[in-house]
Amino acid sequence: MEKFYITTPIYYVNDVPHIGHAYTTIAADIIARFKRIFGYKVFFLTGTDEHGKKIEKAAEEKGISPKELADETHKRFKELWKVLNISYDKFIRTTDPEHEEAVIYFWKKMKEKGDIYKGKYVGWYCIPCESFFPSSQVEDGKCPSCGRPVEVLEEESYFFSVQKYKDRLKEFITKSNFVKPDFRQREVLNALNDIGDISISRPRNRVQWGIPVPDDENFTIYVWVDALINYVSALGYPDGDKMEFWPADIHLVGKDILKFHALYWPMFLMSVDLELPRLVFAHGWWKVQGQKMSKSLKNVVDPFEISSVFGADALRFFLFRETPFGQDGDFSEEAIKSRYENDLAKDFGNLVLRVAKFAESNFPSGVRKLGLPSFGDFSPQELLSLWKRAIENIDLFSALSYFSSLVAFSNKFIDSQAPWSKLKMGKVEDAEKIIYNLSYLIKIITFMIYPFCPETALKISRSFGFHSLLDDSNPKTIQDIVNYDEVFRVKSTGVLFPKIGG
Ligand code: MSP
Repeated sequence: MEKFYITTPIYYVNDVPHIGHAYTTIAADIIARFKRIFGYKVFFLTGTDEHGKKIEKAAEEKGISPKELADETHKRFKELWKVLNISYDKFIRTTDPEHEEAVIYFWKKMKEKGDIYKGKYVGWYCIPCESFFPSSQVEDGKCPSCGRPVEVLEEESYFFSVQKYKDRLKEFITKSNFVKPDFRQREVLNALNDIGDISISRPRNRVQWGIPVPDDENFTIYVWVDALINYVSALGYPDGDKMEFWPADIHLVGKDILKFHALYWPMFLMSVDLELPRLVFAHGWWKVQGQKMSKSLKNVVDPFEISSVFGADALRFFLFRETPFGQDGDFSEEAIKSRYENDLAKDFGNLVLRVAKFAESNFPSGVRKLGLPSFGDFSPQELLSLWKRAIENIDLFSALSYFSSLVAFSNKFIDSQAPWSKLKMGKVEDAEKIIYNLSYLIKIITFMIYPFCPETALKISRSFGFHSLLDDSNPKTIQDIVNYDEVFRVKSTGVLFPKIGG
């Protein structure tokens, strides 16, 4: 069985999850489910990033210890993943002892390799971002990433020396098309030209909440070094049995943390002689009325609240139907409401309901195949193949456009073929043929929507009797999906997307 390893970033526990965190995790879940139904042995990793100044500060403000804060907040993430039907295989916490041991082992290996030295760091530092910035990026004393004030800091630090790896990394990125979308790959290659040695420690008197540097208790390992290593520590690095999943097939990340994944991480991996991941995909950000979500603007979108109103499937659908994956999006309740009412309830839900009701009441013992379906020039099979290729290319937006095209075609088909009028004319077999064709279309539609809206897809598949298609213990090919069933035994699904507030 072919293996597939996908990861999300691990989320900081200084704050509760919002829609941006849900976004990456849902994307990973869509791809993981997609791969599983096509027979891959998937390992899907998510978790929480629990060390560093940011967490230390947030805990202090709350009057609790950082560990207490992490213990509390990581649960909110787990709860959200449950609500959103996230099928992760492992949830890692960077305070897990196995992770901490792996980080120390990793550090020692880089040191043995001669890639770590002690020096002095002077620069602009942003506490919330836990990052130094070069003067060229700092304007008016503001952090180029979050806009908050930066301060000048001079301190002793351990550095990771990049010179040895720069050329190899450049070649790797270019040859393997390491970063997607393409415009991000160009960005990363430009950034690589300017990169200098990386400060990988913090003085203990400034950051206490972290893993101590081996053999030097005066320093804490920089939280980003600690965090990135989660992708291998979760597999049992150095010699755990899950290491068979390494290298990762996809690291999904937001655009703001691309540099860490596409530049730092591969160099650290080269240093310890591990294979490099196959792809880093950077997505855009959700904003609200064009503005960044922030506590001070009180515009942070709560995914618990949205899914309690619209359901998890609608949120999952909206996030990938509204905006191409890779670009920024604008979130509003009106926009999700409109997708819910139009794309989901009216176009998709009604179609399924009409077909199911008609089949159940007129063909209670089953809708038989009375000849091969034909849809004129239109090929649902071709759309399915396009859908598959789109997801393989992480183009989740196009995948959903193909879904919507098939739904639109099916609605036109039912209206133009009008099976009810055939019945009225006593042409029962004609009506059965039409409803067979529609059930067949619904089967493909359901398969296409499954990774995005698993709950709804499972409901439909049960009521049309093709649930084995979504059973991932039994690998599929496109051919298995487009096969013509002898019969569809249909029971009505009930309303799939009920009126909001009604
Ligand atoms: N802990 C680091 C990641 C370490 S990975 C080894 C981190 N955590 S975070 O909680 O701040 O952000 C996690 C992810 O959420 C990032 O990929 C970030 O891009 C994403 N998002 C945060 N806000 C977002 C939006 N408003 N919209 C979309 N994604 C956003 O960074």
